[in-house]
Amino acid sequence: MAATDLEGTVALVTGASSGIGEATAKVLADAGAAVALVARRGERLEKLGGEIAAAGGTALPIEADVSERGQAEAAVARAVAELGRLDVLVNNAGVMLLGPIVEAPLEEWERMIDVNLLGLLYTTHAATPQLLEAAEKGPREVADVVNISSVAGRIARRGSGVYNATKHGVGAFSESLRQEVTRRHVRVALVEPGAVATELQSHNRPEVKEQIEKRFEDMEILRAEDIADAIAYVVTRPRHMAVNEVLVRPTQQEA
Ligand SMILES: NC(=O)c1ccc[n+]([C@@H]2O[C@H](COP(=O)([O-])OP(=O)(O)OC[C@H]3O[C@@H](n4cnc5c(N)ncnc54)[C@H](OP(=O)(O)O)[C@@H]3O)[C@@H](O)[C@H]2O)c1
Repeated sequence: MAATDLEGTVALVTGASSGIGEATAKVLADAGAAVALVARRGERLEKLGGEIAAAGGTALPIEADVSERGQAEAAVARAVAELGRLDVLVNNAGVMLLGPIVEAPLEEWERMIDVNLLGLLYTTHAATPQLLEAAEKGPREVADVVNISSVAGRIARRGSGVYNATKHGVGAFSESLRQEVTRRHVRVALVEPGAVATELQSHNRPEVKEQIEKRFEDMEILRAEDIADAIAYVVTRPRHMAVNEVLVRPTQQEA
């Protein structure tokens, strides 16, 4: 990827305060995009924004909870108002709260549906008109939506039912949106990581966390930068080429 591939464009990354979102924001900024950084932990966003600026890039930290419709809409509006346009939307914010369906705490299901599904839907709904306009008016004459799903969006497992449901939902929504906007040069991509070393599992109940750690203890898992790299590949293809789906597992991950 050349350092100028995204010159003159604006990207918005949700869940930019850690993990895959943070790594993606850095890579997109390195490629020349001005990047709106969206998440709830404002101080983390400010720090990342400082790092991007120190490396010569442009970043706009926006503290927002994407599961709140008004906040998701305001975040997109602010990015467009302050950075001037929107060419790339990376819907990455997510939570993974695992455990058996029987007697699961319903608040965990509600949180996953609110962030992984509704948050992604609100942000996409608010951003689509801007992306269509960017695809029409250049500089690249193409725009991108990248939705972060998971291996869990392709294969359901016991102990993962509602996370599976949200990520399968992201896949279905992405394909429907793709068909609606692709003739207008808005590309929609689904990125499906396997296990990545981030904070994602840390929000689980202790007994669940232990099981997740056990599953991957003898495996070299992915780094956030590996997925950021895949996202950068997707959004820097020529205008006529749309990478619609990318499944990236650690080499040793079987299922
Ligand atoms: N790590 C993996 O193994 C893996 C595998 C497959 C897919 N994924 C997917 O990758 C995405 C990123 O996860 P990660 O692994 O990088 O985990 P992470 O480090 O925990 O990052 C999750 C990000 O989502 C943000 N977020 C959570 N709730 C939010 C809300 N209501 N509003 C705005 N932002 C919110 C968090 O920021 P704040 O807390 O500051 O709001 C954080 O920046 C998720 O969609 C996850 O499902 C991860």
